[in-house]
Amino acid sequence: MMRDKNISKSKVVLEIKDLYKSFGDNHVLNGFNMLLHQGENLVIMGKSGSGKSVMIKCLVGLMEADSGLISVMQNDITKLTQEALDILRADIGFLFQGSALYDSMTVRENLEFPLRRHTKKFGKDLDTEKLVIGALDNVGLANAIDLMPSELSGGMKRRVALARTLILQPKIILYDEPTSGLDPITAKEIIILMQDVQNKYGTSSLIITHDVDCARVISDRMILLIDGIDYAIGTFDELSTHQDPKIKAFFKQ
Ligand SMILES: Nc1ncnc2c1ncn2[C@@H]1O[C@H](COP(=O)(O)OP(=O)(O)OP(=O)(O)O)[C@@H](O)[C@H]1O
Ligand SMILES: [Mg+2]
Repeated sequence: MMRDKNISKSKVVLEIKDLYKSFGDNHVLNGFNMLLHQGENLVIMGKSGSGKSVMIKCLVGLMEADSGLISVMQNDITKLTQEALDILRADIGFLFQGSALYDSMTVRENLEFPLRRHTKKFGKDLDTEKLVIGALDNVGLANAIDLMPSELSGGMKRRVALARTLILQPKIILYDEPTSGLDPITAKEIIILMQDVQNKYGTSSLIITHDVDCARVISDRMILLIDGIDYAIGTFDELSTHQDPKIKAFFKQ
C-alpha cells in the first residue's frame, strides 16, 4: 500500500478542509479537502482548469479563498500574524508551473535571491557561495553557475528552479507540474531528482501533475480533483484500477 513508510500514522503537515473559491459564476473549488503527512508524496491530478493551481495559490497565500480551513504545520493560516506567516513560509518551497527563473539574473543570482529574502531563517552571516554551489551540485548543475537562463535547456531550467527551491531547505515542497513541457527522458530525470530530495531530506511533497508516469513512480497517495472536490483518494494502484468512468479517464493514455 503506502510504500512501507507508515505515513498514515505520521503527523499532518498541511491540511485543507472544505475549501471554496469562485470567480464570479465560475465555482472552481466546492469543498475541497486534503491532508499531507510528514514524509509523504501526495499527488494531485485534475483536468486542466479544474482548480489545481488555484488550490495551491490559496495554500501559499497568493490567493484568498472564499471559505475553508488551511493549516500549515497545525497552524490555521488565517489566524497567524504576518510575521508568524513569514516564518512558516520559509519552510515551504514552491516550484511554480513553468520554471519562473529571473531572466535577467545569472543562475547564481537566481539562487541567491531567495536566500536574501529569508535572512531570518538563516541569519545574516550565511555562506551564500557554499549554499549556492551545494544546491546546484544536488541537481547536477554546479558548472552552470554563471550562465544566464537563456543559455539553459528546458530541463536545466527546471533543475535550477528546483535548486532554488531546495536552497531554503524547506520541510514541505509544492510542485506545480514539475515535468510538464519536458521530453520523457528529462521528465524522468526530474522525477529521480525529486525522489533523491525526498530521500535525502525527508521532505513532504505535494505534487500537481498530469503525468501518469510521474504519479505512478512518486506517489504514496493520490487525490483526484474533480468538480471542485477531492473526488477520489487512494494509492496509484487503487485509483488506476477503479471502475468509475470519471476516475478511469485519468489513467487512459
Ligand atoms: N485570477 C483569476 N481570476 C479569474 N479566474 C481565475 C483566476 N485564476 C484561475 N481562474 C480560473 O479558475 C479555474 C481553475 O484554474 P487553475 O489555474 O487552478 O487550473 P489548473 O487545474 O491549474 O489547470 P492547468 O492544469 O491547466 O494548470 C479556471 O477556470 C481559471 O480560468
Ligand atoms: Mg495549473
